[in-house]
Amino acid sequence: EKIYVGVDLGGTAIKVGICNQEGELLHTYEGPTEKEKGTDAVIENIEKYVRLIVEQSPYTWDQLVGVGAGVAGFTDLRAGVILLAPNIGFRNVPIRAILEERIGKTIVIDNDANVAALGEAWSGAGKGVTDCVCYTLGTGVGGGIIINGKIYQGFAGLAGEIGHISVVPDLEAIQCGCGKMGCLETVSSATGIIRMAVEAVERGDATSLSMIESKITAKDIFDAAKAGDEVSIRIVNRAAFYLGKSMASVAATLNPERFIVGGGVSKAGDILFSKIREVFMECTPAPLQQGVEIIPAKLGNDAGIVGAAGLLLR
Ligand code: BGC
Ligand code: NA
Ligand code: ZN
Repeated sequence: EKIYVGVDLGGTAIKVGICNQEGELLHTYEGPTEKEKGTDAVIENIEKYVRLIVEQSPYTWDQLVGVGAGVAGFTDLRAGVILLAPNIGFRNVPIRAILEERIGKTIVIDNDANVAALGEAWSGAGKGVTDCVCYTLGTGVGGGIIINGKIYQGFAGLAGEIGHISVVPDLEAIQCGCGKMGCLETVSSATGIIRMAVEAVERGDATSLSMIESKITAKDIFDAAKAGDEVSIRIVNRAAFYLGKSMASVAATLNPERFIVGGGVSKAGDILFSKIREVFMECTPAPLQQGVEIIPAKLGNDAGIVGAAGLLLR
């Protein structure tokens, strides 16, 4: 029996999982990225977690065919190089060659959100749909465009960098990790949402968030919004507003049948989705709304791992 390991390299955590030939996820493991320790340490962690999960499983290293990795950054798929990972601090890292050398197996890499989109298309919320666009709302905002059942790569493999669509008007725009101003990611990622909350607390706005003594999390903000905290509602609405706006642009460009929204921030649930849908409908011409759905992802945290392992299988 052969096994395949999928890796989801994010700004906060590295998730790894073992899949069988059918692409079924059998085991998972998650460890910290530790990006503050630098590129080498992060890559060492990937190797460590891959070896660990195989060791802890009933399988042997010999049964491992290869490793598929989805990485959170602008990724040159053909060269196997991470050009820029705003939330991990990577720049021009030839990750495929490094991992091949360290792990000694076939390594395939792709963008984390592309890979999550593939996972959703194969066995999640995009099953049976030929054209869909997936948003991953986590540390950053990622995107994956599925056209005719396949990831649309663009000329340099960088298509679907939806988090860096410039949506915030100049006067309100702040700089993104990519270096540019007003990206969607600055307002609709967990990082952006938390930043807005911290700013509100520091300004002394009346909000239940100011009672939280530890670091404010995205979940704290969603819980407060659900409980009626005005400041938190405003923040969630702002995140949703720009998501809805960006989807209107994407709909006008690609006419996908579904928008699938995953990642930690999507756990906000209806308060987020209802506002996204409202803004989308306000901004999108009627024919382009026809039959289009905006729905939560189904595979949750595992989409990236399943899709990454799938890179070796399909
Ligand atoms: C990166 C993307 C990535 C996304 C989600 C963005 O900042 O540019 O490549 O897919 O974060 O991790
Ligand atoms: Na992408
Ligand atoms: Zn950006």
